[in-house]
Amino acid sequence: MCGIIGYIGHRPAVPILLEGLKRLEYRGYDSAGIAYIQQGKLKVIKSEGKISILEEKVFSNDPLHTTIGLGHTRWATHGVPNEKNAHPHMDLSGNICVVHNGIIENYTKIKESLKAKGIDFRSDTDTEVLVHLISEEYSKTQDPLTSIRYCLKQVQGSYAIGVMFSDRPKELWAAKHSSPLIVGIGVGENFIGSDVPAFLPYTKDVIFLEDEEIARLTTEHVDVYSLNTGDKIKKQIKTIPWDISLAQKGGYKHFMLKEIMEQPRVIFDALAGRVNYKTKRILLNELNDLGIPDKIHIVACGTSFHAGFWGKYLFESLAKIPVEVDIASEFRYRDPLIRKDDLVVVISQSGETADTLAGLRMAKEMGSKVVGICNVVGSSVARESDKVLYTQAGPEISVASTKAMCSQMVVILLMALYFAEKKNLMEPDKHNQLIMGLKDLPNILEKELPKTREIAKELSVMYSFARSFFYLGRGLNYPLALEGALKLKEISYIHAEGYAAGEMKHGPIALIDPEFPSFVIATKDHLFDKVVSNIKEIQARKGPIICLTNPDVKVSANHIWQVPDLGGILTSFLILPALQLFAYETAVYLGKDVDQPRNLAKSVTVE
Ligand code: F6R
Repeated sequence: MCGIIGYIGHRPAVPILLEGLKRLEYRGYDSAGIAYIQQGKLKVIKSEGKISILEEKVFSNDPLHTTIGLGHTRWATHGVPNEKNAHPHMDLSGNICVVHNGIIENYTKIKESLKAKGIDFRSDTDTEVLVHLISEEYSKTQDPLTSIRYCLKQVQGSYAIGVMFSDRPKELWAAKHSSPLIVGIGVGENFIGSDVPAFLPYTKDVIFLEDEEIARLTTEHVDVYSLNTGDKIKKQIKTIPWDISLAQKGGYKHFMLKEIMEQPRVIFDALAGRVNYKTKRILLNELNDLGIPDKIHIVACGTSFHAGFWGKYLFESLAKIPVEVDIASEFRYRDPLIRKDDLVVVISQSGETADTLAGLRMAKEMGSKVVGICNVVGSSVARESDKVLYTQAGPEISVASTKAMCSQMVVILLMALYFAEKKNLMEPDKHNQLIMGLKDLPNILEKELPKTREIAKELSVMYSFARSFFYLGRGLNYPLALEGALKLKEISYIHAEGYAAGEMKHGPIALIDPEFPSFVIATKDHLFDKVVSNIKEIQARKGPIICLTNPDVKVSANHIWQVPDLGGILTSFLILPALQLFAYETAVYLGKDVDQPRNLAKSVTVE
């Protein structure tokens, strides 16, 4: 949801802002803008559409020598995506500008009261109230800190903001509440960004701003103040372990493809240091003082929810711990019954998803311990969870999540094995086989991926006629079917629904005809025969079928797609990329914008 970049330093700011915006474009891409100070005046350039359009506009202006500026890429919440509503927004004097990520929930009331004071609004956004409030106080006090505090104390909702004053060309201001904002610390230059990739080519040293903190950046210093008291706060500088090459396409046509093909490395990194292959023990030291929960509640959204749902099967079968899995936006508004010895596990790639964070906070308020499974170091989920298990997948830039789910599945499997070990539930042979299978998994996947891609490519052409698709599976393959359907619909815009294969005859099968294909996952497990029966039911209604299965099984379908049988659980790690690649190749064949599908944004930091 919206990306912010800010720069103050010794280099020309505008190219840094534009590059940063491109790296943040996955957060929103319906309009964009930059502001900079030139010869004591604020200049703002905005445009509807992608950053490339803004870039053309910027370079058709004069050459902009400036070393301070703010940039914003928008995912509309209030006001349609057009130039008027794009950020930055200026006050009436033209002295102050603001970029904002989040939602100001009480903006209507504030807007009315500002209008009554004679302020003319130029956009339909909630953001504009911020700049007018800051301006109202600044005209009296000439003090940025007082003015920003005055403004933010009146607003409810969520915000990460960057603020610039044309009469203070050596200062950049920022603040946050419930939306991410990170300060990058360079040498003779400093940055703000919604996400680390915004400034990763320049520095890996960061300060994570907490809620209700305000930062003042100059070229040499970063000071952080409390919104509530105005007092200075001492902050620690942390170093991000990511390399810039991880945030680039590395020769691939799309980030999504790069991230799918990276999964062998992702599995290796998620396992690193967490398994002792000699003793066959799981080393999740982060969980050591948690005890064994009576019950686990998994809370997540979207693809992370599918990873959690897949995990339910493992916690229950391996560790015999009952699990409830909730979509975070439901969890936070129902009255879940969480007991003292239950554990809440929240799963989030970004660590900033608003509903997931709200679920986390609710669970903590109810006295539960929370484990966060999260990719982004220092994100809100990571900071607020009692314990955090990082997935170590590296930055995920493609809006459609792929490698993150793979890494989450590894961590969940390790967690299930960890609890099973603690409860002495593992049968040694099975356990050892699984551990050694995990060790081999990155190599096996590395070998399989090129073949899988080839098959995905062929099938995507044959099935690109479809207007709708069913994705069906049982057991562990049911959550994967849900994920396959999500991937297809979000990037190719072909309607797709995931179902438990056994549910078909309770309604959905009515839709089957020769134009309505089903993608059935039928792996060699205890449910195989049942899935074959479901396939037959579809065939009896002349529905075309792609069957993703293993060698040496008896099944007939229009197209049989085989991946090796890794013995139950681990086969999921071959099924997942096959589903991802089928969606990817279909979207490419149909000419869709794979990395930035319409109407979506990477990190959903608003409710
Ligand atoms: C789908 C997708 C989304 C995210 C969801 C949760 O491809 O990317 O469904 O999985 O928005 O995001 P995180 O994991 O960042 O909380």
